[in-house]
Amino acid sequence: MKRKILVTSALPYANGSIHLGHLVEYIQTDIWVRFQKMRGHDCWYVCADDTHGTPIMLRAQNEGITPEALIERVYGEHTRDFAGFLVGFDNYYSTNTPETRRCAEDIYGKLQAASLIEVRSIEQFYDPVKEMFLPDRFIKGECPKCGAKDQYGDNCEVCGAAYTPNDLKDPYSAVSGAKPEMRSSDHYFFKLSDPRCQDFLRRWTREEGRLQPEAANKMQEWLGAEGENKLTDWDISRDAPYFGFEIPGAPGKYFYVWLDAPIGYMGSFANLCEKNGLDFNEYWAKDSQAELYHFIGKDILYFHALFWPAELEQAGFRTPTKVFAHGFLTVDGQKMSKSRGTFITAESYLKQGLNPEWLRYYFAAKLTNTLEDIDLSLPDFTARVNSDLVGKYVNIASRAAGFIAKRFNGQLAVADQSLAPYAAIREAAPRIAEYYENREFGRALREIMALADGVNQYVDTVKPWELAKQEGQDPALHAACTNALNLFRLLTVLLKPVLPVLADKVAAFLNVAPFAWDDVNAVLAAGHAIQPYEHLMTRIDPKLVEALVEANKASLAPAVAAAPAKAAEKGAEHSQQRHAEKQQKEAQVAQAAAETGPHISIDDFMKVDLRIAKIVDASHVEGADKLIRLQLDIGEEKPRQVFAGIKSAYDPAALVGRLTVMVANLVPRKMKFGMSEGMVLAASDPEGKTGGLYILSPDAGAQPGMRVK
Ligand code: MSP
Ligand code: ZN
Repeated sequence: MKRKILVTSALPYANGSIHLGHLVEYIQTDIWVRFQKMRGHDCWYVCADDTHGTPIMLRAQNEGITPEALIERVYGEHTRDFAGFLVGFDNYYSTNTPETRRCAEDIYGKLQAASLIEVRSIEQFYDPVKEMFLPDRFIKGECPKCGAKDQYGDNCEVCGAAYTPNDLKDPYSAVSGAKPEMRSSDHYFFKLSDPRCQDFLRRWTREEGRLQPEAANKMQEWLGAEGENKLTDWDISRDAPYFGFEIPGAPGKYFYVWLDAPIGYMGSFANLCEKNGLDFNEYWAKDSQAELYHFIGKDILYFHALFWPAELEQAGFRTPTKVFAHGFLTVDGQKMSKSRGTFITAESYLKQGLNPEWLRYYFAAKLTNTLEDIDLSLPDFTARVNSDLVGKYVNIASRAAGFIAKRFNGQLAVADQSLAPYAAIREAAPRIAEYYENREFGRALREIMALADGVNQYVDTVKPWELAKQEGQDPALHAACTNALNLFRLLTVLLKPVLPVLADKVAAFLNVAPFAWDDVNAVLAAGHAIQPYEHLMTRIDPKLVEALVEANKASLAPAVAAAPAKAAEKGAEHSQQRHAEKQQKEAQVAQAAAETGPHISIDDFMKVDLRIAKIVDASHVEGADKLIRLQLDIGEEKPRQVFAGIKSAYDPAALVGRLTVMVANLVPRKMKFGMSEGMVLAASDPEGKTGGLYILSPDAGAQPGMRVK
């Protein structure tokens, strides 16, 4: 029976690069989707960039561009990286689209009609300089428990205490440094505490197969016992300024990013429907017979197993058939780390010339259907790909193909299907299909490699290379190579969900149409002509992996700066969730501390206020042989006067009108020529060989006053 299946992966945030951790999820989903397609089902795989929220808004501001420009650039990077790893989305869209807005407004309207939206005034920290309400993660201050300075608003990284921003001593805004004020404002809540939601979720999370056992248990913990009603209402609005969708009928109020993010699954699918003529309702209406699966990381289970099904149910849509959560990626047994070079971006992997199918194979070999973390051990990665994929599997073809071309005009003989390896593959194929279906990819690959061992044993027994040297053994040689290639073809069918490009190359080499799963039940006819063999896959040179790690041992700063912003949107919605995040955070902090060494912290760096400055005037200074007097516009009321020791390298007239970079928060210094209110930055050659001094220039588009960091 032909199934109708809609599959999603989580929508990656549009403010960061895709890294190997993300790829666990997209590769896992892609393998599953390719398997379903090979089986002949109608399977659609949609995803999108998650574009809304405070971190993206602030990031765009910091870059001096619009959020739209930022998300457009990142969209280009994300789609490039996913294509590079052969992730075959049927549609990759964005949440900042008319379709997602329409779906979000629709769902919100239905929840409102069901009296499940409530407006309440809440008190929250407000940054009077930046003129915005601050998410908890953007407030810092002194830990109320241990007194550690510069702690985030939700928990202390030093003593581990959890608290609310109200508890902090001397709180300040992480955005502007200003002292935040308490202000009240109206927020919109989705009434999860309503018995309709609680009862539904208690039932839904227990239904057979909706959630993995571990996830279902966690949900029971979060839901509490019958009648306990542990769920609190969910705050789904944020105040302007915010990058997102304005809530209908609520000027200045925006949907919280996590409200429209899962709705982005619908939006992306709606867009696919417009392009392909599919019927949206067939997949999303209450009575839909189609299957809906969400692949996610375990960190966002709460959103997908509680909020999202509740929203869908109460708004009159179908709910997910199943939610599939996976664990986190570690590298060599530890969290990915920028300083160790194991925070590896998708882009760098491809740029260093590593084959994406090596990683697909390795991840598949490690993947199970549980929430357990998976480890990328770099030595094991090299060893396993080289021994299994190249040594066992590709080797079969390379041992047989040459003889067929040279000795038999490229034509095959009759396959001898009475041989044991044929029977073994036929017998295993349905079981392997079940492993794929159940996301036990590691098991599937272990079986396939055991089958490859069987094929290699056959080849070792018949010894084509010896037959080739013996008189009168041509028929035996022809048979041996024919069988080897036929068996190789069957193994390729089984591997295709994991290795789609390799499988297509094999199909081209064998001169047949791209493989479908049913091809595992047939052999190539006698007389079938194949193409000349071309190398299918090389071994991993360990040097490549070393170079990859080296290439990723880059800037520590962005990692640290990005962390709070990202965590902010995951939201500490619930104490359990908060606890899990805290533990994760603690591990990160311990690690960061261990890694810091002679480095400065990002907070140290952030104390330096670097600004884009426009040189509005420059002149010689009477009586000073090194100095030029600069007037610098940094967007303040009046320009700053700075004396710069660059006279040996610059003619004042040539400087006027240029943009450069200045330190804006140096203590002003009284010089004999007047006050110097800052410093411009210049590079210099310590040897003084070139006599060179080089002031900095920003790229086009930077404006006076922009912060540099
Ligand atoms: N934007 C949200 C998801 C919204 S879905 C409606 C988000 N984005 S994310 O970019 O942070 O993560 C995207 C997916 O990648 C999540 O499922 C997350 O769990 C997964 N991973 C991110 N880092 C990961 C690892 N290190 N290891 C495995 N998966 C990881 O969350
Ligand atoms: Zn503390």
